[in-house]
Amino acid sequence: MGATLELLRTERLRLRAWTAAPGDLARLTDIYGRDEVTRWLGGPPTVPPAELVARWEAVHARDDRFGCWAVERRDGVVAGTLLLKPLPNGVGEVEVGWHLHPDSWGHGYATEAARAVVDRAFAAGLPEVYAVVRPGNAPSLAVCRRLGMTPLGRMTRWYDVELEVFRQMAPAVVD
Ligand SMILES: CC(C)(COP(=O)(O)OP(=O)(O)OC[C@H]1O[C@@H](n2cnc3c(N)ncnc32)[C@H](O)[C@@H]1OP(=O)(O)O)[C@@H](O)C(=O)NCCC(=O)NCCS
Repeated sequence: MGATLELLRTERLRLRAWTAAPGDLARLTDIYGRDEVTRWLGGPPTVPPAELVARWEAVHARDDRFGCWAVERRDGVVAGTLLLKPLPNGVGEVEVGWHLHPDSWGHGYATEAARAVVDRAFAAGLPEVYAVVRPGNAPSLAVCRRLGMTPLGRMTRWYDVELEVFRQMAPAVVD
């Protein structure tokens, strides 16, 4: 077993591990049962929420630089998921991703949570982080821009589909 996913805090949010508690499973069912969310993710998950939680735990257990967080608002409601995980080509490229419930869109939560996860990634020694977005997903493209990620154009490099690719490089270390 790897280490427990650590808590990340931002001004308005608490990022913690998703759990198999009934409240978390209900929220996952709600978020990933919505077409307005899953249409941008290549469709709904192929496994039930408890299995999603187990898979996300395994991502962190295999390599603790990675993780999948539940993004909790101050009122305790989980806004959604923030992920940092390897892209599926096995050459070590890493993606950051954000999936929020529509009741939490429009507040800057995705950008705020992503900043914390990307900062943690660089602190853990990753040299760069990618975001891959389906063309037409304007809100997600806007998150990439707000984060200051560099657009690299459209590529069909991952997931067998053309995606808008963004990259952020780790800040240079001055010694
Ligand atoms: C992609 C997604 C996370 C973007 O959500 P979002 O709420 O638009 O993004 P943010 O959380 O960064 O919020 C930015 C919005 O909040 C507004 N906002 C309000 N208060 C704010 C604050 N204090 N700080 C920053 N932004 C704030 C911004 O103006 C912006 O709104 P606008 O787009 O109308 O200008 C969301 O649309 C989603 O979950 N979609 C479905 C899943 C998905 O597509 N995931 C990405 C796959 S690549």
